[in-house]
Amino acid sequence: MSVEKLTTAFSLLPATSILSLPVLISVAFLSVFTFLLYPGGLAWALSLLNNPGRRPNSAIPGPAGLPLVGLGYAFASETTHRILAKLAKSLNAMPLMAFSVGLTRFVIASQPELAKEMLNSSEFADRPIKESAYELLFNRAMGFAPFGDYWRNLRRISATYLFNPKRIECFRGFREEIGRKMVEEVKGMMGRNGNVEIKSVLHYGSLNNVMMSVFGKGYDFSRKGNDNEGEELEGLVKEGYALLGIFNWGDHFAPLKWLDLQGVRRRSKALVEKVNVFVGKIIEERRNVRSESVSEIIDANSKDFVDVLLDLEDGENKLADSDMIALLWEMIFRGTDTVAILLEWVLARMVVHPDIQAKAQAEIESIVGTNPVTDSDLPRLTYLQAIVKETLRVNPPGPLLSWARLAIHDTNLGPHFIPAGTTAMVNMWAITHDDKIWTKPNEFNPERFIEEDVSILGSDLRLAPFGAGRRVCPGKAMGLATVHLWLAQMLQNFKWIPSDEGGVDLTECLNLSMEMKNSLVCKVVPRV
Ligand code: HEM
Repeated sequence: MSVEKLTTAFSLLPATSILSLPVLISVAFLSVFTFLLYPGGLAWALSLLNNPGRRPNSAIPGPAGLPLVGLGYAFASETTHRILAKLAKSLNAMPLMAFSVGLTRFVIASQPELAKEMLNSSEFADRPIKESAYELLFNRAMGFAPFGDYWRNLRRISATYLFNPKRIECFRGFREEIGRKMVEEVKGMMGRNGNVEIKSVLHYGSLNNVMMSVFGKGYDFSRKGNDNEGEELEGLVKEGYALLGIFNWGDHFAPLKWLDLQGVRRRSKALVEKVNVFVGKIIEERRNVRSESVSEIIDANSKDFVDVLLDLEDGENKLADSDMIALLWEMIFRGTDTVAILLEWVLARMVVHPDIQAKAQAEIESIVGTNPVTDSDLPRLTYLQAIVKETLRVNPPGPLLSWARLAIHDTNLGPHFIPAGTTAMVNMWAITHDDKIWTKPNEFNPERFIEEDVSILGSDLRLAPFGAGRRVCPGKAMGLATVHLWLAQMLQNFKWIPSDEGGVDLTECLNLSMEMKNSLVCKVVPRV
């Protein structure tokens, strides 16, 4: 019996009749029981009460989950994407599955058709804002800003001045130099320790790269001497990353939010103070330099992003200092980890698949020879690009696309009614591991992308690691340019082999991005 029918039956009973008390209790019990078992769980059942006109036959299939908690346990796990994929399959809810986490309603698409409809629809162009993101000022940065004029302005500014192909091209020399420094660092590490723990090298290189494009500022790679600003920044990024990755029960249960049991608010406030000082100082320094050299005309393409934002101070798009800090901080934050995490997965795959590694090295040799690889070689390294695509398919940094969407109004997805305020997600991992879409999906096989050229930039939802639609990742071209170049440099310079302890542990751990649970530790043999 549906919730609606039970409620109607309940209201027709003469509530004051003592004789009907046992009947009343049974009906009440049944109502609560049915309510808790409603497809999608508590939050969906409650939404039915708010939308009494809605017929339950349009209910989206989904697990009721645990009482009150719903599927909260899945989000507290390290492999949420796998748990959700398994549930969707077992409930025949691959196109769309409903579930609840506390009082939050979710839908998740695990097939390309509804995923495309969701990501491309302006009805889903907002993002749910978690407490950590709010406290860390991200509601004023691009990633979490509500869909509207402010967000549109940030997107336009960064597309024009930070992510356009000319700007990316402009920083090629710097990317190449960081790649060379990382090669030296790997050599040094191997000499000192007899093995390489690549994650820290990639993280620092990536941070430096973003700092240069955003702040026009690099850090000493060797991290010696008094200049520990780079390390300080790295610490801030790590803490922010940890805070955004925490599954915060308070986001789904209002009373817990107030109690801040996990300390998310407390830690976020402490972090944001440090970020304000760090980024605020860089902005102030730049203002001073600019006021001293007013007559200097800076070429638009060699300006860094701080200059661009300061230029806006003379016009109607002027940003408040706090908004500037939020935007700049988000760029550092987003640009650093995704690139480092993806490259660590690719290199882990190279150690696990020596034949594929050798093929990529042969390609580099035949196209580049022994000259150092540069940006201009990359378009011809098609097998290397196929390796990156295959890694994004098998080990995507964002298996659930990292940042969910929010239904702005009441709307529909396929035949289903979605109430405003529902959190909408895509299980990209489920799509890229679906054997109806990919042959032998669990096999690491870059050749599949030589046989068929699949775009990964958001037009083909079989593989959209950067999302799609209005809120697609704006840094995708910059991210890919960096990953391709550094991978080519690493493969040209070294053969990557297992450490003496043995193989590579490919266990996943989903924080904000999906990382290797145990960082890659391997050995390298110089090739050139
Ligand atoms: C391998 C590298 C990267 C991956 C896999 C990646 C992935 C993603 C994904 C899945 C989204 C959500 C898209 C959606 O909702 O449809 C996103 C958003 C975003 N990414 Fe990236 N990203 C990468 C690199 C970068 C870089 C280098 C930057 C900047 C320097 C960046 C900045 C952003 C921003 C600002 C957003 C939010 C956009 C908005 O909401 O309007 N990303 N990214």
